[in-house]
Amino acid sequence: MKKLGILVVAILGLIVMTACGDAGSAGDDETKTVGIAMPTQSSERWVDDGDNMVAMFEELGYETDLQYAEDVVENQLSQIENMITRGVDILVIASIDGEALTDVLDQAENLDIPVISYDRLIMNHDHVSYYATFDNFGVGVIQGEYIEDSLGLADGEGPYNIELFAGSPDDNNAYFFWDGAMSILQPYIDNGQLVVRSGQTDFEQAATLRWSGAEAQERMDNILSAHYSDETLDVVYSPFDGISLGVISSLQAVGYGSENRPLPIVTGQDAERSSVRSIIAGEQTQTVFKDTRALAEQAVNMADSVLNGEEPEVNDTETYDNNVKIVPSYLLNPVSVDIDNYQEVLIDSGYYDEDEL
Ligand code: GAL
Repeated sequence: MKKLGILVVAILGLIVMTACGDAGSAGDDETKTVGIAMPTQSSERWVDDGDNMVAMFEELGYETDLQYAEDVVENQLSQIENMITRGVDILVIASIDGEALTDVLDQAENLDIPVISYDRLIMNHDHVSYYATFDNFGVGVIQGEYIEDSLGLADGEGPYNIELFAGSPDDNNAYFFWDGAMSILQPYIDNGQLVVRSGQTDFEQAATLRWSGAEAQERMDNILSAHYSDETLDVVYSPFDGISLGVISSLQAVGYGSENRPLPIVTGQDAERSSVRSIIAGEQTQTVFKDTRALAEQAVNMADSVLNGEEPEVNDTETYDNNVKIVPSYLLNPVSVDIDNYQEVLIDSGYYDEDEL
């Protein structure tokens, strides 16, 4: 009887231990990991995007592996390969070069690891499950309209001297921003209300590899010395805050920004802190606010739905063709910001604290 009792206790103990052990490992197995590959920490926005996603994924019980590649394509490829090798359950990628990910996406596809394209579309592959971004053509339209309104172009004002900058040619977004802006500006270039003294009116001539502020500054230096010794530049179309600040440095170096030679109108994008400070200081004129909290939330919801076997919410199934398929997308709305509304849009909304600016 006593022996039987001991046996029963031992068996029960074993069952409890096994059950606990199972629960523990099952629990561990259930903790899914998200690999988040971001382009660079050199632009504030990507730091905010990464931080926001990590916080939101962790809140839902996910582990995260967040990596920045400092705009070096090979770094990003090996970071993604490592994530795949370590067995992440899903990848969220903001690519550096949208056409360079074919091999790693093949690997992800072979292992059934879904891929969400974050802000920038990954090109030339069918294994891009979903795309979370903003209305990128709309960003360009907002920038173009800002120039149109500020100069009174619709009322026939002009001619004004303008120079044009485009984003990185390996980023699909750059073409959307450019096309959106040109949908507004091109007619005024054609009818002479806007004059591009450098003659550099093609995307390829205006492009800025990796969105580099330093490269934009150098190009602006060259244009100013070649075409503006006797002319005044009135407006610069810039698609991104980092480019805008490079352009402004170049302009200041030749005397713009003084009493008798004001800075031209300079657009931008991302409402990065340094550019908002520049707007407050009366240097950069405008930027486009794209709420990285909202973008992160969309991407996190998409990933969570995919991992739970549900259909993520999308609101665009027509626009984003990556040359292999139209990637179902969720597009958020960009907002124009200048000195008149930065307080309301950026501070009152809680996006920035006043003292950060
Ligand atoms: C684009 C992005 C912009 C800007 C730019 C440079 O892909 O949509 O908001 O951040 O890259 O980082």
